[in-house]
Amino acid sequence: MKSTGYGFLEFDKVSFSWPNGVNVIDHCSFSIVKPGLWMLVGENGSGKSTLFRLISGVIRPNSGQIFCSLRPSMVYQNPDHQLLMPTCKSELMLSVPKNIPQSDLLYLIQSALEKVDLGEMLDRPIHTLSGGQKQRLALAGAIVSNSNLLLLDEPTALLDPHSQNSVLNVVKKLTSSSANPITAIWVTHRLEELFFCDGAAIVKNRGISKWKSGSKVFQELKSLALR
Ligand SMILES: Nc1ncnc2c1ncn2[C@@H]1O[C@H](COP(=O)(O)OP(=O)(O)O)[C@@H](O)[C@H]1O
Ligand SMILES: [Mg+2]
Repeated sequence: MKSTGYGFLEFDKVSFSWPNGVNVIDHCSFSIVKPGLWMLVGENGSGKSTLFRLISGVIRPNSGQIFCSLRPSMVYQNPDHQLLMPTCKSELMLSVPKNIPQSDLLYLIQSALEKVDLGEMLDRPIHTLSGGQKQRLALAGAIVSNSNLLLLDEPTALLDPHSQNSVLNVVKKLTSSSANPITAIWVTHRLEELFFCDGAAIVKNRGISKWKSGSKVFQELKSLALR
């Protein structure tokens, strides 16, 4: 595996069946070797969320191997299922690694909030945030925890178009920053989002297609829908 110095993720002939015998992933191989925004599309039940569980290590393959030098973090569809504390600051405190000195805490939290365009929100009660702001707070949690692989499972499905754009823009910025770009894998049903990615693939037939440009995958799915 050729590393870019930023870390990588590689699936080598990974297979996975749920204990009830449903085989979801079969001899699936792919890799991501540089930072960027990588999108996955696929029908309901095709195995996208299962792939994320395999990447994050919550479940293990029945056969094959997963190599991952990145530190993954999940962001779910519904931020209300992810955020636990009363304010942005207290929420982010939960994600700070244990070895961070007390004197650095506030700086770390404030700079994470700025990276997701929530710089003014340190003491804001979470219940007053919009859906898009809540998703960006979940992203700040991942940043604070020092994650460099965001696994976003339909993060905009419940958002209005304005919030949808705000989340997409922040993730785009984080994955293309010149100083310290991170890797994001983004599952979407909103095909217009494909135009923002650095590569896209279709999850089907118990595996994933080759990486292509987002516009190519958009065209393929549109022409399938018209058939
Ligand atoms: N915890 C589970 N136990 C058993 N089967 C599951 C579980 N989670 C998902 N599945 C099955 O695995 C398949 C893929 O599901 P999933 O990965 O959630 O698909 P997607 O995210 O693409 O909609 C489906 O057939 C689903 O019913
Ligand atoms: Mg899913």
